[in-house]
Amino acid sequence: MIKENCICIIGGAGHIGAPLGLALSSKGYNVILVDKNKKNIKIINQGQMPFVEEKCAKLLKKMIYKKKIFATNKLDEVRKSKYIIVCIGTPVNNKFNPNLKNFINFFYDLRKHLTKNHVIIIRSSIYPGICNKVFSIIKNYCKNLSYCPERIAQGKSIVELPLFSQIISGQNYKAKLESGNIFKKICKKIIYTKIIEAELIKLFSNAYRYINFSISNQFYMMCKNQGLDFFRIRNLMKDNYKRNINIPSAGFTSGPCLLKDTMQLSKFYNHKFPLCDKAMSINEGLPKFIIKKLSKDHDLRKKTVGVLGLSFKAENDDIRDSLSIKLLKKLKSKKVKTLQSDEYYKNKDNINKNILIKKSDIIIIATPHKAYKNLKIKKNKILVDIWGLIEKK
Ligand SMILES: NC(=O)c1ccc[n+]([C@@H]2O[C@H](COP(=O)([O-])OP(=O)(O)OC[C@H]3O[C@@H](n4cnc5c(N)ncnc54)[C@H](O)[C@@H]3O)[C@@H](O)[C@H]2O)c1
Repeated sequence: MIKENCICIIGGAGHIGAPLGLALSSKGYNVILVDKNKKNIKIINQGQMPFVEEKCAKLLKKMIYKKKIFATNKLDEVRKSKYIIVCIGTPVNNKFNPNLKNFINFFYDLRKHLTKNHVIIIRSSIYPGICNKVFSIIKNYCKNLSYCPERIAQGKSIVELPLFSQIISGQNYKAKLESGNIFKKICKKIIYTKIIEAELIKLFSNAYRYINFSISNQFYMMCKNQGLDFFRIRNLMKDNYKRNINIPSAGFTSGPCLLKDTMQLSKFYNHKFPLCDKAMSINEGLPKFIIKKLSKDHDLRKKTVGVLGLSFKAENDDIRDSLSIKLLKKLKSKKVKTLQSDEYYKNKDNINKNILIKKSDIIIIATPHKAYKNLKIKKNKILVDIWGLIEKK
């Protein structure tokens, strides 16, 4: 029997699903995290987070103790729950076209369990038009489909959800209304839109950020080629001049979302989106640029290069699509002796940051973990500080 107060989250053991489940369970819902990943299911049911996510570890322990949340791989659990929130991955293939096979197939599996009273909420970031495609798959089983995109920064769900507006769109009034009622409990404000508007709001937001970062990365490369300090110039640009206040830092722009969603948008525009192509070649080209620049001045095969930070972003352990890893692999492929360290991502080849600094001739701060801010690096070492983490001081 369907329970009104129960929410099933599909992809519930993932980076978006798990924190969302915790936020909802803390507001009184009974949450079932459905996922294919048995390892993460086990970890979650033991009250541990499978990855770094601010404020989640304590909350998970509390919600497990109160029996407000559990994880399972059984999709038929959706039969018990009125609401089904879908947070599974929406990757692009190696030609940067959306690879939606797993996503679409999921709805063929799901519809066998649906009744007309369910409310299905898509939370994944999707290619425009996919909501309508999903509707055509499930409409004879259930018509209550909404699209409510996630816009938090990974690692910050619990902190950011209450601060942001939630975009709500849906195929019918019931889907919109009921989805809005759920998100009202955990978000600051609800904004109702058309489905296509919601799909574009999500992709435009990520593409806008991705392109913005590429501007600073381009400026950084220009400065490096001129022997100038981009971070000093950036500070001067912002000094008492409000139009420049939002110019981002340079740095590795990577991870599982920004590039992927920019590419989904590009595909939507038949790949006639030159801004996005340029942004991609600048952002993805930064590791190559750094190695090329270092190679000009040094014989890298006679040096030890230490890479500080491997995750795709600061204070996180996720290495999906990390440019720090791309940099490390490129150095290794050139037979350069490398050392690696990270504060969050665990790997058998990692060493302590201070030992890395001691043993390396060249040190690259690839991920701006806070722990690197106050590092003492001797003058005889070559420091590449892509994020301006140390130079900023
Ligand atoms: N990570 C972010 O910062 C972020 C932010 C906003 C939106 N998004 C979007 O949210 C979606 C999920 O991203 P994520 O980072 O959480 O990915 P993730 O890989 O961490 O989580 C996805 C989860 O879905 C599970 N899964 C895949 N297929 C399944 C199926 N058929 N049945 C059950 N479980 C299945 C996987 O095992 C995994 O645990 C993507 O569309 C992404 O673009 C991500």
